[in-house]
Amino acid sequence: MSRQSLRSAILAATATLDEAGVPSPGVDAEELAAHLLGVSRTRLGMTPLVESSWLEGYRSLVARRAERVPLQHIVGSVQFGRAHLVVGPGVFVPRPETESLVVWALDVIAGVTAPLVVDLCAGSGAIALAISAARPDARVIAVERSPSALAFARRNIVQHIDSGGTRVELRGGDVTDQRLLADLDGTADLVLANPPYVPDGTPVEPEVANFDPPEAVFGGPDGLTVIKPLISVAAGLLKVGGALAIEHDDTQGETVPDLLRARRVLTDVVDHQDLAGRPRFVTATRVRMVAADIEPPAAAAPPDGTRRKGLSRRGKLRS
Ligand SMILES: C[S@@+](CC[C@H](N)C(=O)[O-])C[C@H]1O[C@@H](n2cnc3c(N)ncnc32)[C@H](O)[C@@H]1O
Repeated sequence: MSRQSLRSAILAATATLDEAGVPSPGVDAEELAAHLLGVSRTRLGMTPLVESSWLEGYRSLVARRAERVPLQHIVGSVQFGRAHLVVGPGVFVPRPETESLVVWALDVIAGVTAPLVVDLCAGSGAIALAISAARPDARVIAVERSPSALAFARRNIVQHIDSGGTRVELRGGDVTDQRLLADLDGTADLVLANPPYVPDGTPVEPEVANFDPPEAVFGGPDGLTVIKPLISVAAGLLKVGGALAIEHDDTQGETVPDLLRARRVLTDVVDHQDLAGRPRFVTATRVRMVAADIEPPAAAAPPDGTRRKGLSRRGKLRS
């Protein structure tokens, strides 16, 4: 059987993926090769030559990626912080930019023993499991509405426990329902959320349009349909001194912080950027509510800012 150079196969695959418009063709060509060889990307150099039968399999994976099937769907999993998650059709693929929110969250609870952490809009369980893996003493509760996402989250939690992790509680339901988590009112040290927030109709990359569930990505005409009621639910869950982090669209770097500032029970509202320097998530702290404090209605959303050209990390296409 003839053998060929792995490097030249990866270079050919990179050219194919580049032509198909895949954003990171070289990385994806290497990831697919590593997946098929059963090694990590850093160990590809250990395999200088491959059989022609292997090449056939590799080319068919590359062809699927060139059709813009997400890399994570082809390999079936994704690493998110310390969590290894199974993903596929029917669940949102966790994004690297959300890891900044997890890093912030872990820092906030660094000095808290056995913190109670609630992950609203849990999807595959990414945030909940990354927190649990880093803080096994935490009580982590993940909340999700979609039956298919819940099935992935359940599977990922079982895998996490089987590999020595601590239990993560999974609850099915709508996070905008004020009664859903009433038993936890005033008890959470940390509430985290990566809700659907892309304004309806925003053009997105094929991987997002064809493979991420729409209810995971789009958040109504202004992208705030879930975020607005979620803020009330999150504020109610927090204990005094507890903290909140909500990921948002890069066009919402003023709108969402303003929604939090309009709540008297929240203070220290700070917006944070992702690694690309885009506004990405907002944080706040719960303060004690005094009798005179009456929640004002949610602030009206300021007009949408001017859109930048280019592609956002969530896969939006901008004109
Ligand atoms: C952007 S995804 C985030 C998933 C996960 N937290 C992550 O970072 O990978 C948003 C998730 O929220 C869920 N979702 C949308 N609206 C919801 C609602 N009203 N109640 C509960 N979950 C909701 C979607 O099904 C989807 O799984």
